[in-house]
Amino acid sequence: MKILILGSGGREHALAWKLNHSPKLNKLYVAPGNAGTSAMANNVPIGVNDFPAIKDFVIQEGIDMVVVGPEDPLVNGVHDYFLEEDQLKHIPVIGPQKAAATLEGSKEFAKEFMMRHQIPTAQYESFTKDNVEAGYEFLENLQAPYVLKADGLAAGKGVVILNDLNEAKAELRSMLLDEKFGSASATVVIEEFLDGIELSVFVLTDGENYKTLPTAKDYKRIGEGDTGLNTGGMGAISPVPFADKDFMGKIEERVVKPTVEGLKKDNLPYKGFIFIGLIKVGNDPKVIEYNVRMGDPETEVVIPRIQNDLVEVFEAVAGQALDKIDLQIDERTATTVMTVSGGYPGSYEKGKEILGIDSIEDSIVFHAGTKLENGKVVTNGGRVMAVTSYGEDFKEALKQSYKNVDKLSFEGMNYRKDLGFDL
Ligand code: AMP
Ligand code: GLY
Repeated sequence: MKILILGSGGREHALAWKLNHSPKLNKLYVAPGNAGTSAMANNVPIGVNDFPAIKDFVIQEGIDMVVVGPEDPLVNGVHDYFLEEDQLKHIPVIGPQKAAATLEGSKEFAKEFMMRHQIPTAQYESFTKDNVEAGYEFLENLQAPYVLKADGLAAGKGVVILNDLNEAKAELRSMLLDEKFGSASATVVIEEFLDGIELSVFVLTDGENYKTLPTAKDYKRIGEGDTGLNTGGMGAISPVPFADKDFMGKIEERVVKPTVEGLKKDNLPYKGFIFIGLIKVGNDPKVIEYNVRMGDPETEVVIPRIQNDLVEVFEAVAGQALDKIDLQIDERTATTVMTVSGGYPGSYEKGKEILGIDSIEDSIVFHAGTKLENGKVVTNGGRVMAVTSYGEDFKEALKQSYKNVDKLSFEGMNYRKDLGFDL
């Protein structure tokens, strides 16, 4: 098999690392990749949304399968593009078609999907510039805090939670009338605040069958104690200790099954990962979001716990034979700690040399924002490198990750030292 992965983060490095273990793999390419993927695959300088260049490359190299990391190309229809091109339509793409990718591309679409299929979620209503007044009224009838969500993709910044009613109204105005998030906030979903602890569940489906992958919890805020600005994710733990058998049973029956069945009923073809963001309210799961891809850094803890040959698993997704796969999961806990550039998630500098990578032992280093420059690994993004470790429990695994993070250094390096504090 010759496989092309689209993307350049820690998620794509973890997927490349795992695919590389398969005896079925002949050649692996990552477009555009990072310094980490270049050590185990061939990086290709093609952007994830440059479909014609991807097409030329796939034909030229005789690629047998494309695995899509981020949501952007999915929401832009990369899978549909392959199906519409005679020279590409026989090549499996792991990732949903555009219609189903709207589950991530539009919050309103996702909420309507959940309502239609009785999937538990927060009560909501959506508004546009034509009914701002109704939006104010809706806010007045809700209890604080107020949750406002830009409908479209807003680089993870489109959800605003406010305690003050007047601030919430001002925010609604700014999203709808001042286009705070551009066209992404032309529609705004306002919803009931859910009070509880968050976790994520990952599902792999071939459109007919599905496998529930390990759970994970990520730490989104930059500051210790979950304070400060949101980031892409500062670290993750899998499995989530409080997701016991009883709770997982509820998630399976109330969320996972109706989601996969709902996709079928709505005629939304789906071959790929579904990332379900949940809040545990009391003892019940409620869905806060769908993503149509794996999470980052969740992939860096979920994928290392899957013991199957990932090429075989993806072949089963493509061939709609996931029911034939017996998923084997490592019982150990995996944790990952993300090192980030100084200043992130605000502005930060790039090009800082990263030292100490070779001295890391008994952990796996997944590169995120890195690149090679004159033979040196340098920073090339906000999130730089994730250090993943196994342990009997999350405390043991974290201890190992932190021990190795201490060996890494680059100017301005920052990371959260309190992962797991809430467990
Ligand atoms: P989302 O992009 O929908 O995942 O939202 C980003 C973050 O906002 C989530 O990870 C939650 O922490 C928070 N959030 C979203 N919706 C709600 C809600 N209804 N109640 C409480 N917190 C929420
Ligand atoms: N870590 C959150 C995400 O990938 O969306």
